[in-house]
Amino acid sequence: MKNPYLPVPMRIERVVVETEDNNVKTFSLSFLNKEDEGSFTYTPGQFAELSALGKGEAPFGMASSPTQPWCLEFTVNKAGVVTTALHNMEVGGILGVRGPLGNGYPIEALKGRDIVMIGGGFGFSTLRALTNFVLDDANRRSFGDITVIYGARSPGLLLYKDELEEWQKRTDFHLYLTVDVGDEEWTGRVGVVPKVTREVGPSSENAYVVICGPPVMTKFTLPVIKELGFPPDRTLLSLEMRMKCGVGMCGRCNIGSKYVCRDGPVFKLAELNQLPQEY
Ligand SMILES: Cc1cc2nc3c(=O)[nH]c(=O)nc-3n(C[C@H](O)[C@H](O)[C@H](O)COP(=O)(O)OP(=O)(O)OC[C@H]3O[C@@H](n4cnc5c(N)ncnc54)[C@H](O)[C@@H]3O)c2cc1C
Ligand code: FES
Repeated sequence: MKNPYLPVPMRIERVVVETEDNNVKTFSLSFLNKEDEGSFTYTPGQFAELSALGKGEAPFGMASSPTQPWCLEFTVNKAGVVTTALHNMEVGGILGVRGPLGNGYPIEALKGRDIVMIGGGFGFSTLRALTNFVLDDANRRSFGDITVIYGARSPGLLLYKDELEEWQKRTDFHLYLTVDVGDEEWTGRVGVVPKVTREVGPSSENAYVVICGPPVMTKFTLPVIKELGFPPDRTLLSLEMRMKCGVGMCGRCNIGSKYVCRDGPVFKLAELNQLPQEY
């Protein structure tokens, strides 16, 4: 059995600086050992612990989709010790990856349903993975209407700009980009994510809503989702509690009886409503 504490080595193949403030970078990684590649099967919404030698490890959601098996991608916001060490690494650098961890989005339950994804900040990385997964030619017919609402504080802070441009050309899903404050070049929507969600008003009839973003965005989006009629058992949230082991052993990430690393990070709102409000 694979040791869940043992990271596998991966090589940095590409680094993209995502935001104008240089604080968010996306790393494309390849496995050094072929056998590690074969055993790393994941679903969107899962995460892995990335380690920078001598600095420690931290959890990050997979930003790539398993339908793009040529690389594994992580989008890293510079916040402290580990994320700064990762930001200082360059193409060719070797880092450790431990995973995949957590439950991920419930793909089987989403099949045959409309999906509304609402995201902001680096939390959008796992929704990017889910979007690419459901839009893949092999999967698109398994899902109904797809709506993606994605917001950033300003145009320069939007992630995956080239991909967003490609997505905007597609006619098989609805993409709504918004910024809190625009600039001279921005001709798109202006307004915070909860406001735009209300304006767009996606139908809740046969739909799941999947929310991943900063706590303040989630807090103000949830009442809108409720107004739109999404029931708590079709409202999915991805949580970002502090973690250590990532495998349900150390007790660092628990909310009541649940471990975010093992039972989550994706939870139905119906489940969270039964737990202490510690997230
Ligand atoms: C399931 C999961 C998925 C995640 N996915 C991503 C991702 O895709 N991209 C990304 O950039 N980050 C992601 N994070 C957050 C990331 O793990 C933390 O920002 C990281 O641990 C910071 O490590 P550090 O050593 O650089 O910061 P530290 O030096 O440990 O801390 C820097 C500062 O951030 C605070 N901090 C650290 N972790 C957290 C946290 N979880 N919540 C609130 N405050 C915190 C510390 O108190 C300190 O003030 C995810 C977290 C989880 C649990
Ligand atoms: S991080 Fe150790 S139990 Fe979740």
